[in-house]
Amino acid sequence: MTLRAFDEPGAGEVVFRPGGRGDAAAIIGLIASENHRTAEPDRITRRLDQLPSVIAERDGDVVAFLYCRRFSPDMVELSNMVVASRERRSGLGARMVGILEPQLVELGFRAAIFVNCRLHVGATDARAAAARAFWLHQGYRIVFSTHGSVVFTKFLGDPPVDSDG
Ligand SMILES: CC(C)(COP(=O)(O)OP(=O)(O)OC[C@H]1O[C@@H](n2cnc3c(N)ncnc32)[C@H](O)[C@@H]1OP(=O)(O)O)[C@@H](O)C(=O)NCCC(=O)NCCS
Repeated sequence: MTLRAFDEPGAGEVVFRPGGRGDAAAIIGLIASENHRTAEPDRITRRLDQLPSVIAERDGDVVAFLYCRRFSPDMVELSNMVVASRERRSGLGARMVGILEPQLVELGFRAAIFVNCRLHVGATDARAAAARAFWLHQGYRIVFSTHGSVVFTKFLGDPPVDSDG
């Protein structure tokens, strides 16, 4: 995947750029420090290789990431996203989603799906509530939920004419 800077770096500013396999270690570090769980390097590397992703850096440190995986030929799963605690509620997460979605549309994806589960190791009800508020704010809607998991979806671009979305 071609690497292309989204923004020119500025001292102390957050810079958004495409992710690549070289970011796997930093992503695993953020998952460990923020979500208190381990992650599979191969799986993350595969996802970074296959589809677009977004990395946010401040002064060279990865402070947030968002990557995805193919869910069906025209649906994409936003498979993981973390913003470092100290960077939250400043619009970073929304900005990353806003950067990624148009790239996914260009690749032919017509809908995105995201699953948030409060049963994961390290998850809490408060974090699940924050995630829920975040995805609703991004225009996603809840299509299904169980005791532990909530499935969010959104049409990317115009919904099909016969949909109820
Ligand atoms: C969910 C998460 C990615 C949000 O990232 P963020 O950069 O803080 O989100 P933003 O600042 O872009 O928030 C955009 C909007 O989402 C909503 N929102 C985000 N976090 C919220 C919270 N904790 N409580 C209520 N609303 C929230 C708000 O409407 C917010 O707009 P506002 O700040 O103007 O009110 C971040 O909290 C996170 O990394 N959580 C831990 C990991 C996790 O749960 N990952 C799974 C993601 S579903």
